[in-house]
Amino acid sequence: MKTFLMTVLLMIAPAIQAAVHKTHWGMVDGKSVDLYTISSPVLSISVTNFGAHIVSIEAPDKNGVRADVVLGFKDLNGYQKDTKTYMGSVVGRYGNRIAKGTFAIDGNVYHVPANDHGQALHGGTIGFDRKVWSATVIPSGVELTLISPDGDMSFPGTLTAHVRYTLESSSLRIEYTATTDKPTVVNLTNHSYFNLAGKNSGTVLDQQLMLNADRYTPIDAVLIPTGELALVGGTPFDFRQSHPIGERIQARDEQLKLAGGYDHNFVLNGEGLRLAAKAFDPRSGRSLTVTTTEPGVQFYSGNFLDGSVLDGDGRPYEEYAGFCLETQHFPDSPNEAKFPTTILRPEQKLHSITIFAFGVQK
Ligand code: GLA
Repeated sequence: MKTFLMTVLLMIAPAIQAAVHKTHWGMVDGKSVDLYTISSPVLSISVTNFGAHIVSIEAPDKNGVRADVVLGFKDLNGYQKDTKTYMGSVVGRYGNRIAKGTFAIDGNVYHVPANDHGQALHGGTIGFDRKVWSATVIPSGVELTLISPDGDMSFPGTLTAHVRYTLESSSLRIEYTATTDKPTVVNLTNHSYFNLAGKNSGTVLDQQLMLNADRYTPIDAVLIPTGELALVGGTPFDFRQSHPIGERIQARDEQLKLAGGYDHNFVLNGEGLRLAAKAFDPRSGRSLTVTTTEPGVQFYSGNFLDGSVLDGDGRPYEEYAGFCLETQHFPDSPNEAKFPTTILRPEQKLHSITIFAFGVQK
């Protein structure tokens, strides 16, 4: 009888859908901005169609106590005011950096407005994080759509991008698709800052991280990859075994100095949907496992948070208050022929998956 019941339960389990609840958040450019809360018995996630931001992820600790494990703001105004942290947003059309904002496709040269020390960062001055996306509720989640016109931030081609956030038990699945009507470059990622002890609980320096990467892409003084795929062995970039984020962050290392900590793209081992990273907070017991189809992940330790950006309750987000694991194609790929290509052509469809799975370890 017991076995029979278990079998029935397992059969109906995939059919259990997460609930989706929509509330109005405000207006931007005459368009409605809403907050979508997606809840399973284990996790509750809220996202908004302004910049496709993840606003909160409520996850239980080892005692079942929930906390919001991503940095963010309480209201739409907070997201509109903050133009430098990209907290929780989907960055595009080209997430991360393009050297001098300049690249060529098929001999045609394009110039994206430079917004970061002479380089284009996260799609230029008005990236996808600033746009109102349209939204459709789907089973266990929400699908956001953005049509970026030909010439948007000087990128060629009309790009139709979809981001689907769905929740299955304790995993958030993010699925990106995109098509274009002219050859263009695309790199889409989510820019959430995680703090597994809960936002505003101090720094993440004691939280442990494992990265499934034998190599990373060293950077120059303006954080553009040099083109080298350097081995991590024997350096503070070796996270193949788990290490506390802060253990080697002050090490005498030229690469750490250039970025003021970690702000580097790691070259993920393997292909297809596979393990990218695991993070663990020994205090709360919360863990995060990241899997992705992307070739790289930008591990950013929140070095540029300097207390000047406040959360909704007026508390400052200080240096190292959260870490980002931005699954992505490598920075400046449009200018590095050796890197996996970010060119999307009209006959192709971009399809990319990243899963953030939350758990507890005692
Ligand atoms: C990315 C970049 C960082 C920084 C943040 C936003 O992670 O790699 O250098 O610009 O975005 O502050």
